[in-house]
Amino acid sequence: MAKNWTAPQIAKHKVSNGNEPLVMLTAYDAPGGRMVSKAGADIILVGDTLAMVVLGYEDTMQVTIDDMVHHTAAVARAEPDAFIVADLPWMSYHVSQEETVKNAARLIRAGAKAVKLEGGQDRVSMIEAIVNAEIPVMGHLGLTPQSVLALGGYKVQGKSTNAAVEISYEAKALAHAGCFAVVLECVPSLVGKLITDSLPIPTIGIGAGPDCDGQVLVFHDLLGINHDLKPKFVRTYANLQEITVSALETYAADVRSKNFPSEDESYQLSDEDAEALGLYGATIPKDEDPLASW
Ligand code: KIV
Repeated sequence: MAKNWTAPQIAKHKVSNGNEPLVMLTAYDAPGGRMVSKAGADIILVGDTLAMVVLGYEDTMQVTIDDMVHHTAAVARAEPDAFIVADLPWMSYHVSQEETVKNAARLIRAGAKAVKLEGGQDRVSMIEAIVNAEIPVMGHLGLTPQSVLALGGYKVQGKSTNAAVEISYEAKALAHAGCFAVVLECVPSLVGKLITDSLPIPTIGIGAGPDCDGQVLVFHDLLGINHDLKPKFVRTYANLQEITVSALETYAADVRSKNFPSEDESYQLSDEDAEALGLYGATIPKDEDPLASW
C-alpha cells in the first residue's frame, strides 16, 4: 500500500530485500492524480507522455517545461499521497547546468518531489548539478522516447550482448551520479533482471520484464482511453474509450429526443413567482419590451 514515500526510502526499496514491487502510474491532471493516489500507487509520474496522450502531439519532443509545470501543479493540487515525480522535457536539461537546475526547480515548486530525465553517461553532469541543488533525480534508460529521432523509431533496446552491457554501464553511471531510481523502458526481460540485480537503487520497468523493482504504465494506456498505439508491454485493464463514447452518445440522443434535461434536473420557481412572471411576460407592452428590436 502507498505510504508517504521519500526519495531516500525509495532509493533503498529493492525487491531482493523482500519488498513488494513499487507501483508507479502516470497522471497529468487533478482527477487523474486523485484516482491514481486512491488506487494506492506509490509513485505518480507526471510524464512527458502528456504530449501524446493528452495534448495530441506525435511524440514527446513537443512538450515544453511550461506544459510540464502546468500539469505537475494540477496533479499536486489533488494532494495525492503518492510521491510525485515530474519529467524534465526534451531540451530542458541539454543546454547548460544552470538552465537544467532552474527547470528542475520549477517542477519542484509546482509540487513534484523529484524530477526524471532520460539518458545515461551523457547526462551525468546535469544529474549531478540537479542533485547538488538538493533535488532527487530518477533516471530513464533503454528506449528513451525523447531520442526517437536519433534512435530511428520506437524499438526494443539492449538486444545484443554489447548493447545490453552498454545499458548496464549507463545504469551504474546513473546510480553513481546520485539517481534514487531508474526507469528501464523496452529492454529484454533478462537485461531488466541483470541491471536490477546489479544496481543498489530500484529499477522501475515498462516493457522490461517481471524482475524489476517496480512497474510503471501510462494512465491512458492502462484504462484503454487511447487506442492509436498499443505497445506489447501494455496491459489494458478497462476499455474507457468504449464506455465513454457510449455514455456521450446516450447524452446526445437524450438531448435530441428532449429526454434531457428532466424536470428534476431543472430549477423551478415557486408557483407564485411563476404566475407573476407569466403575467408579466404576457402583459409587457410591446413598445416597452427591451428585446423587441433584437
Ligand atoms: O513520460 C512517461 O510517461 C514515461 C513513462 C513511459 C515511463 O516516461
